[in-house]
Amino acid sequence: MKEINVLVTGAAGQISYSLLPRLISGETFGPNTKVNLKLVEIPPVLDKLQGTVLELEDCGFSNCGSIMSTSDINEAAEDCDWALLVGSIPRGITINGKKIEERGDLLHVNGGIFTDQGNAIGTKGKEDAKILVVGNPANTNALIGKSNSNNNSQLWMAMTALDANRAKAQVSIKTNRSIEDIKGMTIWGNHSPTMYPDLDNASINGKSVSEIINDSNWIENDFLVRVQQRGKEIIDARGASSAASAANAAIDTVKNVESDTEEGTWFSAAVASDGSYGVPEGLIFGYPLRTENGKVEIVQDLELNDYAKGKIEITTNELLEEKEEVKDLIA
Ligand code: NAD
Ligand code: LMR
Repeated sequence: MKEINVLVTGAAGQISYSLLPRLISGETFGPNTKVNLKLVEIPPVLDKLQGTVLELEDCGFSNCGSIMSTSDINEAAEDCDWALLVGSIPRGITINGKKIEERGDLLHVNGGIFTDQGNAIGTKGKEDAKILVVGNPANTNALIGKSNSNNNSQLWMAMTALDANRAKAQVSIKTNRSIEDIKGMTIWGNHSPTMYPDLDNASINGKSVSEIINDSNWIENDFLVRVQQRGKEIIDARGASSAASAANAAIDTVKNVESDTEEGTWFSAAVASDGSYGVPEGLIFGYPLRTENGKVEIVQDLELNDYAKGKIEITTNELLEEKEEVKDLIA
């Protein structure tokens, strides 16, 4: 059996509780891969993490390899093939008497976590390691991590798969088509209320979803806002941020990177811009992606009308502002 090393931070948190069993069940990396888990938590939470480790053992999955728990990111990063960076504070909490309302407000709380983590993964991780940042604000945290990794052979991503899944769910409800029929859902830009879920370039049986729906009022005023604000809708309803669906989206992203993408479609994640679609180089930007021969590439030449270009400009500007705010953390 092949063996891989998977680093997960925030391993005692709510997302990880849904994520970890699925990493070792054989579902994510396939039945012929043994998965060694390298679990990272802050020291006060290591005891609680031990409870999760006991449960993982009790699942009895035959794809489960060794399980390490540590608060030392350097120890955990050694030879990692994948790093799922979940560890960070969710919004909704109150810090110094001020409630954190938006994901971007977490920059100064969470951004610093990603300097040491980036450095450790860049120096100790495998040369072809893949890194998925889930902790918010995910795009700019990934920017901080990637710049501190000082390693351009590794692939840094921020998660927008949850937004793409939310967009597909809304389209499925609206059109009464199954999720599998909806192809090529792109989330452009930031995992924030400025994200742009693109229905012009998404398709069902080869036809544009926006043409099928044929209701720009619904698309612009209901669908867009619903998807952009879904994280808040969930926090308001359950008193905690999304967890099972976030873990599911992380698993989807890993699977999408691990196997080549089927013809005629793509998946969503944010990666470092190479200037595609006029986005400044280096920003971690939500793009349409395909995996070809094991390599992740940005899908080129999608048509964007003026409305879409305007939305992409707004989310680009927000990412530039976030980058400016954390310039001291960027190596
Ligand atoms: P949680 O509070 O339940 O768990 C977070 C865990 O991270 C905690 O156990 C905490 O001890 C740990 N942690 C904090 N600092 C750490 C560090 N330096 N190293 C290792 N671990 C550390 O939160 P959660 O619900 O699991 O959410 C985690 C993050 O994911 C939040 O920032 C949340 O906003 C974000 N999130 C992102 C998406 C997305 O689509 N990108 C979706 C849902 C949640
Ligand atoms: C989400 O989209 O559910 C997460 O980013 C959590 C949040 O703060 O909205």
